[in-house]
Amino acid sequence: MSTTFQLDTSTSRAHPTPQPMKRLTVPRIRAKKKDGVTEEPLVMLTAYTARQAQLLDAHCDILLVGDSLGQVIYGLDSTIPVSLEMMANHGAAVVRGSYHSVVVVDMPFGSYEASKEQAFESAAFLLKQTGAAAVKLEGGEAMAETVEFLNSRGIPVMGHVGLTPQAVNVLGGYMARGRSDAEADKIVSDAVALDKAGAFAIVIEGVVEPIAIEATQAVACPTIGIGASAQCDGQVLVTEDMLGMFERVPRFVKKYEDIASVIEKTVASYAQEVRERSFPSEDQTYQPKA
Ligand code: KIV
Repeated sequence: MSTTFQLDTSTSRAHPTPQPMKRLTVPRIRAKKKDGVTEEPLVMLTAYTARQAQLLDAHCDILLVGDSLGQVIYGLDSTIPVSLEMMANHGAAVVRGSYHSVVVVDMPFGSYEASKEQAFESAAFLLKQTGAAAVKLEGGEAMAETVEFLNSRGIPVMGHVGLTPQAVNVLGGYMARGRSDAEADKIVSDAVALDKAGAFAIVIEGVVEPIAIEATQAVACPTIGIGASAQCDGQVLVTEDMLGMFERVPRFVKKYEDIASVIEKTVASYAQEVRERSFPSEDQTYQPKA
């Protein structure tokens, strides 16, 4: 697949005019794991805006419009208050900003747990509003029937096991999972149940490495680790975390950059130039035609 992109990213004022190209598909993502082996790990990152999607798209297989946008974009305490409308708006922006990656939108807390019919209605709304190809939901065995129901009605589902942030009030915090035998068994059986139900991939979050590896080996579909293991079939991080937008990040995050410092320095320069009237200069000022 060519990764030549011709987005007009030179301006923030015009809609980009890309050369149409073929997007990756859910079946192609699922097929990356063959007979238990994924030769090249899948690359997934979160994206919440069109411009962010433009910048990430060529490098990723999957863009996840995660409900982590609750904390990252809206400054909320957890993902619990995130609404379907928020997910739909950000999902649509990410689809508009991408041409290569499969876009997956998180189902927010309260939009799918009550019944498989509720899940179908919410997932259909998200796919219609955004143009995304799939949804992600949290939970294992308890969600297997729902995953099967959605999948058999045209909605591909990515699962999410281990540390499931929407269950923070039951789990009591965001600590790593799978340290006791009971927890470890549950994570593996949750992953197996989702796989059997037809999930095309499963996020394994915040799980001790041996259990992440056991779950990865136990399922036919690709697993995507976050705070799990390099032996998962792919990896995901919250983009703002890996770019260094925040001072404090979970232990499993590698900060590849310190973008927060770049922004602070840049804004300090702007503020100084405004205050000393050196911005705008001649270059940025209109004069009457002579
Ligand atoms: O909401 C999110 O960003 C996620 C990823 C961390 C997997 O679910």
